[in-house]
Amino acid sequence: MLNEERLFPPDKEFSKRAHIKSLAQYRKIYKESIESPEVFWDKQARNELVWSQPWKKTLQWKAPNAKWFVGGKLNVSVNCLDRYLDTATANKAALIWEGEPATNGTPGEERVLTYRQLHREVCLFANVLKKRGITKGDRVLIYLPMVPEAAIAMLACARIGAVHSVVFGGFSAQSVADRVFDSGAKAIITADGGFRRGSVVPLKQNVDDALVIKGADKKLLTATIESVIVLQRCGNQISMKANRDFWWHDEIKTVSPVCPPEPMDSEAPLFILYTSGSTGKPKGILHTTGGYLLYAKMTTRYVFDLQDNDVYWCTADVGWVTGHSYVVYGPLANGATSLIYEGAPNWPEPDRFWNIIARHRVSILYTAPTAIRAFMKWGIEWPKKHDLSSLRLLGTVGEPINPEAWIWYHTVIGGKRCPIVDTWWQTETGGIMITPMPGATPTTPGSATLPFFGILPEVVDEQGNAVEKNSGGKLVVRKPWPGMLRGIWGDPQRFQDVYWSEVKGSYFTGDGSRQDKNGYFWIVGRIDDVLNVAGHRIGTAEVESALVSNQNVAEAAVVGRPDDLKGQALVAFVTLKSGIKASPELMVELRNHVGKEIGPVAKPDDIRFAESLPKTRSGKIMRRLLKQVASGLEIKGDTTTLEDFAVLAQLTKTDE
Ligand code: PRX
Repeated sequence: MLNEERLFPPDKEFSKRAHIKSLAQYRKIYKESIESPEVFWDKQARNELVWSQPWKKTLQWKAPNAKWFVGGKLNVSVNCLDRYLDTATANKAALIWEGEPATNGTPGEERVLTYRQLHREVCLFANVLKKRGITKGDRVLIYLPMVPEAAIAMLACARIGAVHSVVFGGFSAQSVADRVFDSGAKAIITADGGFRRGSVVPLKQNVDDALVIKGADKKLLTATIESVIVLQRCGNQISMKANRDFWWHDEIKTVSPVCPPEPMDSEAPLFILYTSGSTGKPKGILHTTGGYLLYAKMTTRYVFDLQDNDVYWCTADVGWVTGHSYVVYGPLANGATSLIYEGAPNWPEPDRFWNIIARHRVSILYTAPTAIRAFMKWGIEWPKKHDLSSLRLLGTVGEPINPEAWIWYHTVIGGKRCPIVDTWWQTETGGIMITPMPGATPTTPGSATLPFFGILPEVVDEQGNAVEKNSGGKLVVRKPWPGMLRGIWGDPQRFQDVYWSEVKGSYFTGDGSRQDKNGYFWIVGRIDDVLNVAGHRIGTAEVESALVSNQNVAEAAVVGRPDDLKGQALVAFVTLKSGIKASPELMVELRNHVGKEIGPVAKPDDIRFAESLPKTRSGKIMRRLLKQVASGLEIKGDTTTLEDFAVLAQLTKTDE
């Protein structure tokens, strides 16, 4: 419920120059956007984007398939770069990059790329891709650290109409191979390594390992890969295979800096981004060109109230959707300055973020609640050492923010003067869906507040009917919007089943929510078998299948338990094959095994060995019971003691 005492009205000074100045103004535009969506979006697309061919129809909608700006043509890189070349923005910083500082305290390298410089780099690299035989529609995997080349590679793909799929640098060789296999990618762009807390993440080695992985049919998963382009970042020893592997720096010397942009159909695929679901392997979420870019651009400008002189920093990695929409496409489409940092928030000291903010005079900071909770734990002395007066707006994303963290962020980092935008959205939605408008929406800690223009979310019951105010239910979106996913790569049936079958004709988010009497949304979290660990989305099924692929494991069930820092932690209940003994060593082996199969982010926090898993009469694992055990009961110190669920199972009558 909205608690008046904890309601933070918009700051008057902020509102004066904000894009949206009052709640009444927000409500008026929102009403128009919902009552006449096609008129609204048509106008926005005309005003915001540069098109090489106008569209014939604003929206063609037959659930679950949407086509926006049908027949229109445009190029994303033109909208992010070329359009600014004849303006004052040409010489403005597009990207400010900072590398990870060295262990000895030497500051990280710095690079600034103006819009003109970025344009040149993108054109050069686009020509490299062409030289390597990449053409319109081809898929390209990008597996890079947080360096400007990640953005350059994405934009270069967009320039020639190739479809990029960025793989987070923390994912394993197996994950790279799975994504190549699913997308049919022709090339991989990677680096010799990436720096992380003073050590080198062996990205190229992982790619080499991925390129020899075979599937169940004994065929290479990655047979479609023709070339690997390697950025020199760390200078570590790597092997280069002749006629397959090419150095980025050698390649760009051989091509022209002139690269005409490919005019792309508004609905042409722009990128595929893999994300976890409640079943099977991660699914390739497909986003297309015109609608996605329009939505990323508009949400960036309104939600962060972007002004010309802002230094905007979204701390997400480009391997996640937040990095796509709010590090690269949204800010650049607006001609903004986007800061990129390569390293960790506590390297070499826990004041890394505050040091960067003070030196670059960052005015907008967008980060995750997990990071905020870690900052709280590290202590107020770290931010206090730095001048944070340049900040004027703060944002959070990825998981529910607990009121304590919100208040700390507001007070300690924002000096009580910065509005906080708690933004709810998903990989699938392309951009921010529920959020305050800074300068207009009174905020309250823990609520993402109200929908963005054109978005019609609703909380519904099992039958799909709207529930009463203040009652919990499933969060759905009733109307199509330009940034929505267009499908799951290669799997239209799964697209229909996962998102459009739960509540007919509406998009099902997988989240639970409630609306208070003022219409504010409070996101409760996932109601499917997807966990949110430190803002990272992890499917329990994926971790379970990684565990059972270990030779010692018979069965595994993975559930979440609340965690003060990470929001949720992963707990795996494991039964072992006969003759295998539980041991602390095996626990380490299993954690590493999951790390190898998926990546370090998916390593279970706890592994608990059990004699057998509690099951319903129909043989389904009783997850609810396991969740209770995972969060309630103390973990036994002696890891070799097997948990006996027989008694517990008898106590519970619910058949899940
Ligand atoms: O459960 C919601 C949570 O993160 C999920 C989406 O994860 P992903 O696709 O990885 O995208 C994360 C970045 C957009 C959602 O289903 N989530 C995201 N933002 C919030 C949130 N939960 C509560 N409050 C938020 N602001």
